[in-house]
Amino acid sequence: MSDIRTIVVVSRNQGKIREFKRIFSDYVPDVKWRFLSAIDLGLPEVEETGSTFAENARIKALAGAKYLAGTKYSGYICLGEDSGLEVDKLDGGPGVNSHRFSESGSDEDNNKLLLDLLDGVPWDERTCRYKAAIALADSTGIIAQSTGSVEGIIHTELRGTNGFGYDPLFYAVELGKTFGEASDAEKDAISHRRRAIQGLIPAIKRIML
Ligand code: IMP
Repeated sequence: MSDIRTIVVVSRNQGKIREFKRIFSDYVPDVKWRFLSAIDLGLPEVEETGSTFAENARIKALAGAKYLAGTKYSGYICLGEDSGLEVDKLDGGPGVNSHRFSESGSDEDNNKLLLDLLDGVPWDERTCRYKAAIALADSTGIIAQSTGSVEGIIHTELRGTNGFGYDPLFYAVELGKTFGEASDAEKDAISHRRRAIQGLIPAIKRIML
């Protein structure tokens, strides 16, 4: 067997795909992980019609596996991931709508809207969490799934430029700084995505190694 393993990530978000590569390599360092994105394979946009992160993760993984059936990539495992931010003061929003929170959906506008909505809200009421759900699918259907979360506070101003999305506003309680200020290694150690991947590692080892 070759020491390269390929996973198709049914996503166009390069920030997430970079994190998958780093975290999988941490858990299984002997293998060279190759992640192909929806853009690499020309996968059509998948509509996120689910009402939970887990549902959307399954929808993405299954859509990817269906699309690959009959192509030269049909043997590859597809990974669907849905993640986002839940803010207590916003009744759990933006939640599954995190990527399309503001009208433009750009990171800059999403962060600005979040700051505006929480204007004047005291620190101890700005509690939130990132959540991630991941599902793996092949031609037979869903083969594994997992979730992870990390607690935070929405900062009163943008801090740092690392990461992506809401990271400059996400003050991670466990780190004492925002994910925008954290190094890749610091974010990876505690992130919602890391915790979701951790739950999948036994299945990954069983299925792919
Ligand atoms: P998805 O591509 O539909 O899963 O959208 C997830 C959205 O949630 C992203 O576009 C970000 O706005 C936000 N998000 C999820 N995970 C993270 C993260 O690790 N950092 C920053 N924003 C995140």
